[in-house]
Amino acid sequence: MDKPSPWDRVAILAVTLLFVPVGFLQAQGKQATAKDSKLPAVAADATGGGQAAGSADYVGAEVCKTCHEEMYNGWEKSPHWKTTLDTKGGPSHQGCEGCHGPGAAHVAGGGDVTKIFTFKDATSKAITDHCMTCHAGGNQHMNALNSLHTKNNVSCISCHSPHHAETKEFLLAKPQPQLCYGCHLTQQAQFEMPFHHRVNEGLINCTDCHNVHGTELPKQVRMAPMLDAICLKCHVDKQGPFVYEHAPVKVNGCGSCHSVHGGPNPHMLKVSNVNLLCLQCHTTSTFSNAPGAPSFHNQASVFQACTICHSAIHGSNFDATFFK
Ligand code: HEC
Ligand code: HEC
Ligand code: HEC
Ligand code: HEC
Ligand code: HEC
Ligand code: HEC
Ligand code: HEC
Ligand code: HEC
Ligand code: HEC
Ligand code: HEC
Repeated sequence: MDKPSPWDRVAILAVTLLFVPVGFLQAQGKQATAKDSKLPAVAADATGGGQAAGSADYVGAEVCKTCHEEMYNGWEKSPHWKTTLDTKGGPSHQGCEGCHGPGAAHVAGGGDVTKIFTFKDATSKAITDHCMTCHAGGNQHMNALNSLHTKNNVSCISCHSPHHAETKEFLLAKPQPQLCYGCHLTQQAQFEMPFHHRVNEGLINCTDCHNVHGTELPKQVRMAPMLDAICLKCHVDKQGPFVYEHAPVKVNGCGSCHSVHGGPNPHMLKVSNVNLLCLQCHTTSTFSNAPGAPSFHNQASVFQACTICHSAIHGSNFDATFFK
């Protein structure tokens, strides 16, 4: 880490203690004048709540740099540098202190770690709350507080690392899918099956189908009018509408016949032989609104391979029995 040596610290601290408070007073002075002249009396910089920090409690990123230069240099190249431009939010939404909270007491205490918000010992909720002060808006995050991840104490920094990210995009702690496999071992096994969506090969990502920040749909599947709409984003030919719809495609969904992640069967079908799949519904012996397969469909013969003849299995514009 960028730990200064003890002597450096003393020297830096001495300098900081000399100049920083003067800086505060000047800043305070300026603000007070501006306020006096233009505005009616409003609690200065109160962000709400009893112990809201005033601007004097913030020192700015340049001061943090004096002791944490490496952190600063990394941050300066990260997307969070942009907070510097947020003059509307003010010091509580800028720089290091946008995440770590007001730093004056920490600095005055020569780096007193009890006087600054450190993420490492914080509860998952406190962490998420800190990030959400800026990331609550937008489509992508509007369900973040109710997501299964949040509810199960998986905080923002279980996946993101503002300082030590391993990816160029999105500040991820690890690239996908390794990031997810760290916790989702069952799914890892599914994607290692012989027939699978090529997630491990990098062709598609978990997050093409899931919004890990939460959705209103079950299983955090990406927001879409129907659960299957996410599949249709890539498999447009299955969408229809068809003159002759195969009811389960629209009613029960793709997942009624396919293992969506992967499985041991060709075409990621849920069962090993296609006839077993079809005959789950197309049988006269159980309650089913599907017509039974005709009696000439001898299962010891070619009639086992249903989709040889009923090839347009997702729906057809030409044939009620899906021959083409
Ligand atoms: C986007 C929020 C965010 C910003 C901005 C931010 N930090 Fe951090 N900081 C964190 C988180 C989260 C951790 C916990 C470790 C991690 O996940 O990377 C952390 C950890 C640290 C640590 C502990 C050492 C370590 O390597 O983890 C120090 C020191 C630190 N930050 C200083 C700074 C300084 C200095 C700045 C400004 C230059 C800054 N931080 C800006 C979120 C932030
Ligand atoms: C006078 C030097 C100094 C200044 C200025 C300073 N720090 Fe620190 N900071 C330290 C020291 C020393 C530590 C303890 C380091 C350690 O134990 O590894 C520390 C620790 C921290 C930690 C906790 C690291 C951990 O153990 O998880 C954070 C977060 C942090 N500083 C953020 C900041 C921020 C943000 C600023 C600017 C507002 C800032 N610091 C300014 C000296 C300073
Ligand atoms: C003070 C406001 C603020 C806080 C607090 C904050 N962020 Fe950000 N974050 C931003 C801004 C601004 C951007 C840049 C957005 C842009 O580029 O349009 C950003 C971007 C990001 C990005 C996208 C990076 C990319 O490559 O597109 C991630 C991921 C992120 N923040 C995670 C976090 C996490 C995790 C936390 C809590 C530890 C956090 N942020 C806290 C303001 C904040
Ligand atoms: C389970 C892992 C995980 C958790 C938990 C998580 N993220 Fe993300 N986040 C990702 C991944 C993966 C991406 C990139 C793919 C995507 O956008 O879906 C991402 C993208 C982002 C982005 C950039 C894209 C955008 O939507 O603007 C931001 C900002 C962000 N996350 C912030 C957060 C915040 C804030 C939290 C906590 C409330 C959080 N994330 C929790 C994994 C996670
Ligand atoms: C092709 C789209 C797609 C991809 C890619 C995908 N998922 Fe899924 N995932 C789904 C759908 C759809 C469901 C809901 C399945 C159901 O309800 O039967 C689901 C369910 C889940 C579940 C809930 C448990 C379960 O099996 O029902 C977890 C956890 C999960 N996915 C994690 C992941 C992870 C981790 C990755 C990446 C390694 C990933 N998914 C990639 C579509 C996808
Ligand atoms: C730090 C551990 C952790 C990481 C990393 C993680 N998850 Fe999760 N995830 C969980 C926990 C815990 C749950 C909630 C319990 C459960 O249902 O498994 C969950 C739930 C889910 C669900 C909903 C499951 C359901 O049954 O409804 C999906 C989908 C999911 N995660 C996808 C992902 C994806 C995609 C990634 C990678 C971008 C990821 N997760 C990274 C821990 C994690
Ligand atoms: C009634 C069961 C069933 C449902 C529901 C179903 N499929 Fe299929 N699907 C099959 C069968 C059977 C095959 C194999 C066809 C063959 O043997 O030629 C298949 C093959 C596929 C294939 C690979 C071959 C091709 O035609 O491109 C894709 C892709 C596919 N399905 C996507 C989907 C999507 C997306 C959905 C939801 C919109 C869906 N399936 C719903 C039974 C189904
Ligand atoms: C981001 C794009 C994308 C999404 C979303 C997607 N798929 Fe796929 N899918 C593909 C690609 C690309 C292939 C074929 C290439 C490969 O992976 O080998 C494929 C292959 C398949 C196959 C196997 C085809 C065969 O002939 O073996 C089935 C079945 C399938 N997808 C069903 C689904 C279902 C069900 C969903 C929704 C849960 C879905 N897909 C969502 C891109 C996608
Ligand atoms: C989840 C239940 C389900 C599965 C699995 C299923 N079907 Fe169907 N199938 C139906 C329903 C329901 C209908 C529509 C009945 C209606 O419209 O009256 C239907 C209609 C049909 C029809 C048209 C019947 C007609 O005369 O209109 C054919 C042919 C057919 N399915 C073949 C298959 C084949 C081949 C498979 C296996 C690849 C299969 N089905 C899998 C439920 C299912
Ligand atoms: C060799 C070609 C062939 C194979 C293989 C085949 N079928 Fe058929 N199927 C037919 C013919 C021909 C009809 C009658 C079409 C008609 O009456 O217009 C039919 C009709 C049907 C019907 C409609 C029954 C009705 O009452 O409307 C269903 C359901 C059906 N098949 C299901 C299946 C299932 C399930 C399988 C696999 C176990 C299968 N078929 C395999 C040729 C085949």
